[in-house]
Amino acid sequence: MLFDTHAHLNDEAFTEELEKVLVRAQEAGVGSIANIGYDLPSSRRAIEIAKLYSSCYAAVGIHPHDAKSVTDKTYDELEKLLQEPKVVAVGEIGLDYYRDLSPRDKQQAVFREQIQLAKEYKLPITIHDRDAHGDILEIIKEEQAGEYGGILHCFSGSWEMAKVCMKLGFHISLAGPVTFKNARKLQEIALKIPLDFLLLETDCPYLAPEPYRGKRNEPAYVAEVAKFIADLKNMELKELARITTSNAKIVFRLE
Ligand code: NI
Repeated sequence: MLFDTHAHLNDEAFTEELEKVLVRAQEAGVGSIANIGYDLPSSRRAIEIAKLYSSCYAAVGIHPHDAKSVTDKTYDELEKLLQEPKVVAVGEIGLDYYRDLSPRDKQQAVFREQIQLAKEYKLPITIHDRDAHGDILEIIKEEQAGEYGGILHCFSGSWEMAKVCMKLGFHISLAGPVTFKNARKLQEIALKIPLDFLLLETDCPYLAPEPYRGKRNEPAYVAEVAKFIADLKNMELKELARITTSNAKIVFRLE
């Protein structure tokens, strides 16, 4: 069974047909799904879904886009959510210098605060990094953010960066973009990542893999990411599923 380590079934895109989406995931061999928060309401919704469905887990956190609206009260609220059952990580947190929807200094401060919060609760973190590779590396080194593990979600950095992150205690998660025709650099990195450090995800509803590119993504399609990487690494899909699911359970402390 596969583990979609980064989904957003907490997004309103799925409110209408959550049950159907979960059935399709099951049929596609996806046994577990981590729904990742990006603000307080979506974090609460991820917890709610985890309570309703045995296959689902939750991460809670504030996305860099929303860093600008974070106050002390936000952290108090996050702390409450971190104590809920089936919360397996703090995320998604990080830096987004592509859209720059919050001032960069505020993004960095909120990223650091949430790293420390995760460490207090001995939880791994799920990192969003868009066009901010240098500052992400600097901050995770300075804050010793890998102490309880973590994930570079939808990895988009270089092989050099991947190596440093793995050394710091992080796993590397790959999503739909690795299946895109123009993604040679990412495919070369996928080939090099040791199996023990590899995770799979959809980041749904965004970034659907081939052959669904451009459509709404959903957890069932993590099977396409898995097939593509198994082919790339010239290995059995079953074996890739077994290893990456076991990795996810280690990161999220589910066994
Ligand atoms: Ni995401």
